[in-house]
Amino acid sequence: MTDRLRVGLIGWGTVGAALGELVLHGPLPLTLACVAVRNPARPNLPKGVEIVSPEKALHADVVVELAGGLDGPREWARSALDRGTPYVTANKALLANHGAELAELAERRTAALLGSASVGGGTPMIETVTHLAATGAVESLRGIVNATTTYILSAMGTGRSYGEALREAQEAGYAEADPSFDVDGRDAAQKLAILASVAWGKWRPEREVATSGIVGTEVSAGDTIRLVAEATSDAMTVSPMPIDPADPLARAAGIENVLEITVRDAGVFRIWGPGAGGRVTAGAVYADLARLVAGERPILFGKR
Ligand SMILES: NC(=O)c1ccc[n+]([C@@H]2O[C@H](COP(=O)([O-])OP(=O)(O)OC[C@H]3O[C@@H](n4cnc5c(N)ncnc54)[C@H](OP(=O)(O)O)[C@@H]3O)[C@@H](O)[C@H]2O)c1
Repeated sequence: MTDRLRVGLIGWGTVGAALGELVLHGPLPLTLACVAVRNPARPNLPKGVEIVSPEKALHADVVVELAGGLDGPREWARSALDRGTPYVTANKALLANHGAELAELAERRTAALLGSASVGGGTPMIETVTHLAATGAVESLRGIVNATTTYILSAMGTGRSYGEALREAQEAGYAEADPSFDVDGRDAAQKLAILASVAWGKWRPEREVATSGIVGTEVSAGDTIRLVAEATSDAMTVSPMPIDPADPLARAAGIENVLEITVRDAGVFRIWGPGAGGRVTAGAVYADLARLVAGERPILFGKR
């Protein structure tokens, strides 16, 4: 490796473009070696940066995947890790569905696997749970990890219908044109599976989360209903439920996410922060890169 770590970035969307700016102008000794996108005519790509295929980007010193999706990213991750190349991603779908396989490969090849931005956007939830899990005494996790549903359920609590609240969320940039991944609870389920895997030191897939979305949830004006994600060492649940307005979870508003971690003989810890947004999420990816620059080789879901 050269002194400056050469980053191969796959994806130049909301998070990728923000990460690109940080790599180009931030304080770490990083070089943006190349960028892979589907449509090379994207207007905001910086001049002079080489546009390549994802497969070519895998030859950099570190691969950062901010594309999303499952099949392509799984192959890219396997290929990079197999070569011993560190792999950094914000892709919760990948980590909650293929995390064990990737961690095992990373261990075998002594390659780093990092995914701080996959949960909590810019809020260091994985790091906080990792820290608190060191004594093996995490009892439970409970949180709100999806801002789209917080927005919709909050608006319904002020008297809007589901349709009106969804439309407002889409206009405000809180919901995608196709909101199903968020409103069906899958986004929250993937994040919960990743956090639970870290909390109890054993990878647990998304399919083990009992998931109910918010479509069809009855909310009357004045109700405080939220999509709550909860886990213990043997169960994981995501479902809309009434919460007391005085419950700290009820304070999460806008894009805020919140996670409550109960540790035996220590009490309850809470972490709050912005759970989405390009710059915010890119900050977490950049923090992962800082660990690589410092010479660490962490493996998410790994034994070290
Ligand atoms: N947005 C957030 O706030 C947020 C927060 C936490 C985590 N994440 C995660 O971060 C990742 C990226 O999210 P995003 O919001 O930045 O997505 P996005 O705005 O849709 O951008 C995706 C980028 O990836 C490129 N891409 C997709 N498939 C590709 C392929 N097969 N080959 C090459 N390039 C490909 C797209 O290229 P084209 O435009 O040319 O198609 C686009 O540049 C996702 O895994 C998401 O779950 C996002």
